[in-house]
Amino acid sequence: MPESFFVLSKDYLELATDEITALAKMYDRFSKIKIISNLVIVQSKTNWNEISERATFVKISGQILRKMSGLFLDEENAGILKNAKSFVCRVINLSSNQFNIPELENSMGDMISKFSHAKVNLENPDITVYLIFTNNENFFGFSKKTKKRIRTKKTKKFPHELDWKLTRVMINLIGLEKGETVCDPFCGTGTTLLEAESMGIHGIGLDFDEKMCEIAKANIKVNGYNSKVIKSEFQELSKISDRFDGIVTDLPYGTSSKTSEKPQEILKKFFVCIPKRKRVAIMYKKEMDFNSKLKGLKKYHIYRHKSLTRTILIK
Ligand SMILES: C[S@@+](CC[C@H](N)C(=O)[O-])C[C@H]1O[C@@H](n2cnc3c(N)ncnc32)[C@H](O)[C@@H]1O
Repeated sequence: MPESFFVLSKDYLELATDEITALAKMYDRFSKIKIISNLVIVQSKTNWNEISERATFVKISGQILRKMSGLFLDEENAGILKNAKSFVCRVINLSSNQFNIPELENSMGDMISKFSHAKVNLENPDITVYLIFTNNENFFGFSKKTKKRIRTKKTKKFPHELDWKLTRVMINLIGLEKGETVCDPFCGTGTTLLEAESMGIHGIGLDFDEKMCEIAKANIKVNGYNSKVIKSEFQELSKISDRFDGIVTDLPYGTSSKTSEKPQEILKKFFVCIPKRKRVAIMYKKEMDFNSKLKGLKKYHIYRHKSLTRTILIK
């Protein structure tokens, strides 16, 4: 079974590793996952690029060719470079050992040049060959040139809008697939809907504030997307539960956006009206967690500044 590697940003490491695990299992439930600090190795029938395209915190990814016992390419591995016009070698050192990285990259490049017609291209190579060192194991892998991800556009910035990365990771943590539908019952500017549609997931947003609905609609339009936005109270979601597969939302904080009542009351009521058998990822201010009674599969705490730590709860 093919193996892929994902080097993750260390900013939100737990979220990042759980996201790769959720995506790998979503594409192939028999995937095997191994986590070595910020390196995740996935054994699965899914191509590395499919997981990487959806994931939020991946810095480098590719396919593993084999575990290394030395720094030598054998004939089988050299075949990967056969049709490539250009390549570059990169060393990823996740071990506590010190290496002379430029020297290693150069000698690896020299070796490849001896049996491949591919030319070294540092900026935009067809193939990147990776040597990955960890404290226990070393890997040899490669990646092909991929298209740059196009970011969704917004017509205007708003103080309470959610960071697209946290939105995307929430969608991925509940494993929503292409063609499924997400509902955001507090959709605000529509960040969830935009992020979902960028991954081929349909969206339905609710917001009680007419102005926010208009902004969300404008943001959807400017990206050429089709999500629906309904001006209504969040409780409406229980009436439309047959129209979506999961909920991803960021609850009001009572600071820069309008609220119908105290945010903590909204959170309590919202919890009661979540339709059964839906996958749910919700974000709220940690202090609103009334005596930790909100139970789910997993909670993540995200520190922003001294008066704001957010909780993401997966249900
Ligand atoms: C934290 S903001 C959501 C921000 C959004 N994730 C974004 O990126 O723009 C919360 C939203 O909940 C809406 N809201 C507050 N009370 C509501 C209610 N009772 N029913 C529906 N929406 C409500 C507010 O208008 C606001 O747009």
